[in-house]
Amino acid sequence: MTETVLLVGGGGREHAIARALADSNADLYACAGNKNPGIARLAEGFETLDTTNPTAVVDFARDSGVDLAVIGPEAALEAGVADALDDADIYTFGPQEAEARIETDKAFQRRFMEEHDIPGCPDFETFEDMEAACEYVDEYDGDLVVKPAGLTGGKGVRVMGDQVDAEGAKEYIRESEYDRIVLEERLVGEEFTVQGFVANGDLRVTPAVQDHKRAYEGDEGPNTGGMGSYSDSSLELPFMSESEYMDAIDIMQAAVDALDGYKGVLYGQFMLTAEGIKVVEFNARFGDPEAMNTLPVLETDFLDVLTAARDGDDLPKLKFQRQATVCKYAVPEGYPTDPKSGALVKVDEESAGDAILYYASVDEREDGIYTTTSRSFAVVGIADSITEAEEIAEDALAVAGEEGLRIRHDIGKPDLVQQRIDHMAELRGE
Ligand code: AMP
Ligand code: GLY
Repeated sequence: MTETVLLVGGGGREHAIARALADSNADLYACAGNKNPGIARLAEGFETLDTTNPTAVVDFARDSGVDLAVIGPEAALEAGVADALDDADIYTFGPQEAEARIETDKAFQRRFMEEHDIPGCPDFETFEDMEAACEYVDEYDGDLVVKPAGLTGGKGVRVMGDQVDAEGAKEYIRESEYDRIVLEERLVGEEFTVQGFVANGDLRVTPAVQDHKRAYEGDEGPNTGGMGSYSDSSLELPFMSESEYMDAIDIMQAAVDALDGYKGVLYGQFMLTAEGIKVVEFNARFGDPEAMNTLPVLETDFLDVLTAARDGDDLPKLKFQRQATVCKYAVPEGYPTDPKSGALVKVDEESAGDAILYYASVDEREDGIYTTTSRSFAVVGIADSITEAEEIAEDALAVAGEEGLRIRHDIGKPDLVQQRIDHMAELRGE
């Protein structure tokens, strides 16, 4: 049976969700703060509205006659959009505000892990008194990470021994005027993401993905929302073993068991360290860019997952194409600190060739599609190996050109993947 589905959000992640829903023959209605041309083309109806305004989203959902909803961005979850849709009898695949605190309140997240004995929790303390936090920095034996408790779009964290020294950390704590922060042990290793579908007590996991948060090639520069990401043809990544992937899944299962009643995507951000798997954070939604690695290789009908979740059934077992993926974002020049908008996007879904093109924060005008001040679009290559997938992504980027854009060409290249493998070998003392 065809379902009418509402999608909330207008980034690259949501374009990937829209494509998966369209492939499932769902009738799609979408709303977002920006008019994403890729989503708009797939949708029967598209409205630009404030996706953190629950009333506006519910009104649009009712007018569109949707049966089901999927929420992309964390800001909408934090604003209680899932609560409002559920209250309007529109089943929403996305946690309610209280459950989304696993992402939106990092102090809550660490206490939740501690209370429920979820494995992989680093040493941490939470602070409301910033002078007490600075004293803790002075007394702590080792490097710490400063994390604002609330949402910062991935840009609020400062890592001692990497981005700042102890003095810099204290300066940041004093000057940034956060109400609450978490100070936690700095984890050293390789990061990876696992996204899981959760509903009715079930967890269905997807292949591991590695994102690249730093703005510039060689992992230099400020943190961003994510510049690109890759996954392999197996569930794990080249620098880890299958049993390490399974350790991450055990942690996610422990979280799902403790989260009683959670529905939506649970995103685990992990650090593979010399001492095993640790949790960097949990998020309450798909990753952006990671959704663009995962959804195109999902063979299971995405709508079947959503309807099983809604109907109280067991979630279907997931099947994936055994293919590697490489996703690269094109971002405006100067992103993220001083982004310049207004560059013409020269590649489209046809001229991207073998790569898939996902639009993100762009502006569709009469004479073309232009960049704004956030990530512009992403291309995804899919192939038997990471190397081949990377080449497919690069061919599409060559069509796009570089005018007004910045791209991390190193993502997914053999050199960078090998550096990850060597880094883990070195940490393990091999
Ligand atoms: P978050 O906003 O929690 O995603 O953090 C942004 C980035 O900060 C992560 O992707 C990591 O690279 C880094 N980070 C966060 N927590 C830690 C930690 N405990 N140790 C080392 N790096 C961390
Ligand atoms: N790629 C990082 C995130 O979605 O939070």
